[in-house]
Amino acid sequence: MPLSEEDAQKDLDRRVPRASGVVSARIEPDKVDIVSGVFEGYTSGAPICMLVWNRDIDDSAYAEMREKPRPGHADYVASVRYGGFSDFRGGGMFSGRSTVSLIMAGAIAKRLLERIGIEVLAHTIEIAGVRVDPVPSFDEIRRFTYQSAVRCADPTVAKRMESAILEAAGQGDSVGGIVEGLALNLPTGVGEPLFDTLDGDLAKLLFNIPGVKGVGFGVGLESARLKGSSSNDEYTTQKGKVTSLTNRAGGIIGGLSTGQPIRVQVAFKPTSSIAKAQKTVNLKRMVNDTIEVKGRHDPCIVPKAVPVVESTISIVLADHLIRAGIVPKVLGSKKK
Ligand SMILES: Cc1cc2nc3c(=O)[nH]c(=O)nc-3n(C[C@H](O)[C@H](O)[C@H](O)COP(=O)(O)O)c2cc1C
Repeated sequence: MPLSEEDAQKDLDRRVPRASGVVSARIEPDKVDIVSGVFEGYTSGAPICMLVWNRDIDDSAYAEMREKPRPGHADYVASVRYGGFSDFRGGGMFSGRSTVSLIMAGAIAKRLLERIGIEVLAHTIEIAGVRVDPVPSFDEIRRFTYQSAVRCADPTVAKRMESAILEAAGQGDSVGGIVEGLALNLPTGVGEPLFDTLDGDLAKLLFNIPGVKGVGFGVGLESARLKGSSSNDEYTTQKGKVTSLTNRAGGIIGGLSTGQPIRVQVAFKPTSSIAKAQKTVNLKRMVNDTIEVKGRHDPCIVPKAVPVVESTISIVLADHLIRAGIVPKVLGSKKK
């Protein structure tokens, strides 16, 4: 498969909205190097290794967290799990920086999916309770998502979301939100019925993104309040093909794709590192204490998480399509 550094670079460049106060002040150039697995512009079959160095590091604010774990972050549980040996700098392996790797792997998966006409999209549908209604069309999502710092395809709602983030940040606080992920043109029947269900595998990797607190497909948890007649997607035929009149299932039934777009909502909690004083424990002296988290933190995780959701979905779909034998069929030999 053709693969270049630009393939991953364009996705990495979309991770951080530039020139806006909605994310942390860290300047992360995130230049990718492919160090193995690609030869003369094509994947060679050897393992692909991509590297992005962390260039903007400042550990000074983290010394305090060694003794005083941040409420809501993984500092305390990690210190127990790893017996005090865990690398707490920058949040260590629990840092949102880990999502750079998901973007790199996702870039490979996306190129693979593109070759068989599958498109994966993601956009912000809610921040701090400000929600897009109606949800923008696929075309609007393609055109407008990355024009807004908060990655919302409705420019008016995007401005309100941005103000809500800046207001919370001004109060030393943070906000959460919801990203919607979409996969278009997936054939019917991709997935597994047991253990490795398509929704189960998607949820598993989506929960791997730090800060994710909920994953829902189609109408999601709301389905618990519906009757069968308003939850079912009724079938019809169109041009000799079976399709459904609605997509409340979010494109997956029985762990298999239905042929309708996959629609998955991913809920992110408000960033835990906030400047407001919060109660914690001084682990060295075993006394109650308080912490005001310093350092450069994102007042909202959502804007950076949008391309991460897109990459994560792409990785899972590529795995399932390879398993279904669909992808190898489209990989040809290099033309001389
Ligand atoms: C792109 C991205 C950026 C993040 N930035 C921050 C941050 O600046 N400060 C912070 O406290 N948490 C941040 N997080 C979230 C933490 O990494 C996460 O809350 C923590 O690891 C605890 O895991 P959990 O929230 O999934 O339980 C970020 C997450 C993502 C996906």
